[in-house]
Amino acid sequence: MKVPFVDLSRSFAQIEERAFDAIRAVVSESSFVGGRFLEEFEQRFAEWCGAGFAVGMSSGTSAIRLALASCGVKAGDEVITVPNTFIATVEAISQPGAKPVFVDIEPLTGNMNAELVGEAVTEKTSAVIPVHLYGCPCSIEKLSAAISDRPIVVVEDACQAHGAESLVDGRWVRAGSQGAAGCFSFYPTKNLGAFGEAGAVVTGSEVVAEKLRMLRDHGQRDKNVHEIEGSNERLDSIQAAVLSVKLDSLEQWNGQRRVLARTYGELLAGLPVKTPKPPDDARHVYHLYVLLSEKRDALMKFLSSRGIGTAIHYPSPIHLQPAYSQLAHKEGDFPEAEKWAREVLSLPMFPGLRREEVEHVAGTIREFFQDHR
Ligand SMILES: Cc1ncc(COP(=O)(O)O)c(C=O)c1O
Repeated sequence: MKVPFVDLSRSFAQIEERAFDAIRAVVSESSFVGGRFLEEFEQRFAEWCGAGFAVGMSSGTSAIRLALASCGVKAGDEVITVPNTFIATVEAISQPGAKPVFVDIEPLTGNMNAELVGEAVTEKTSAVIPVHLYGCPCSIEKLSAAISDRPIVVVEDACQAHGAESLVDGRWVRAGSQGAAGCFSFYPTKNLGAFGEAGAVVTGSEVVAEKLRMLRDHGQRDKNVHEIEGSNERLDSIQAAVLSVKLDSLEQWNGQRRVLARTYGELLAGLPVKTPKPPDDARHVYHLYVLLSEKRDALMKFLSSRGIGTAIHYPSPIHLQPAYSQLAHKEGDFPEAEKWAREVLSLPMFPGLRREEVEHVAGTIREFFQDHR
């Protein structure tokens, strides 16, 4: 049996007719940029996240960069984040001229270690970007406590965490809704994925939302009046219309991911691998199902030889990437993030993945460890 790392056609089959109807409606109204399809999606996504406003963007990368700008982060500031993320988190900091400052991660979840944040704060720190990695929500409460005496904004990178929840004062709240802004990617493989590039920022602040709308559209509030310097980072209507259709299935798809994750957890128990163990106050949405193994490379090769697709998120932490050599980091600076880069392996995980496929993947991993104890 071959098991793909991801197969989008299985969830697509469930929404095909409605998605094409939505695209047809956009085309027949020639409402390609702005208009009701965008507004409807923004309103529904904001509600779904439990945030006041959502502003569609052309990608998750734009979402983070413009979220920082709209929260007042500027060139010369320092922004704290983690080294084990997709490079976009860090690009969004450095491209406008701010400096990325890394802190190491918690061994249990791979998320930002809030206890280390206080030590990284300086007079220049204006923002912290926790990344809800793989769909496991970080505790924004813990993080906020670490910076509470400073005027530092929290901008959540929720690009992998649509619908992930944290228990706050007895209430489950969704990723993205607690910081000054929460940033989402709708890259096609994400839990909520467009038919191309797309993203959004959610925020509780009308002022931030208005600034975001201007920044994504050449700095204009009123046509041809460019109050600030902006660019074109708009979400187009076809993507918005497709996202509205898919939003109806997101809860169900996240539920499927949780069931599959539980099955992996049960079937991999007792093997020399570390499987995800989200804290009790976190509801993971398993954008990725990631295990840790000291034999990661050999295991990956073995699974590939048996027709099982896997991937590594991410093989090199950002502080060791050539693009950030000017930060002058070296191996050993963030030992936990470096260990994760050496040991993480993402297994097949997507809505429509079948139980027997998960059993086959887990059985093949068990077989590998019979020879590699
Ligand atoms: C953690 C994280 N941040 C940012 C991004 C950037 O999103 P996009 O690819 O939509 O620009 C991604 C997407 O892969 C991501 O996983």
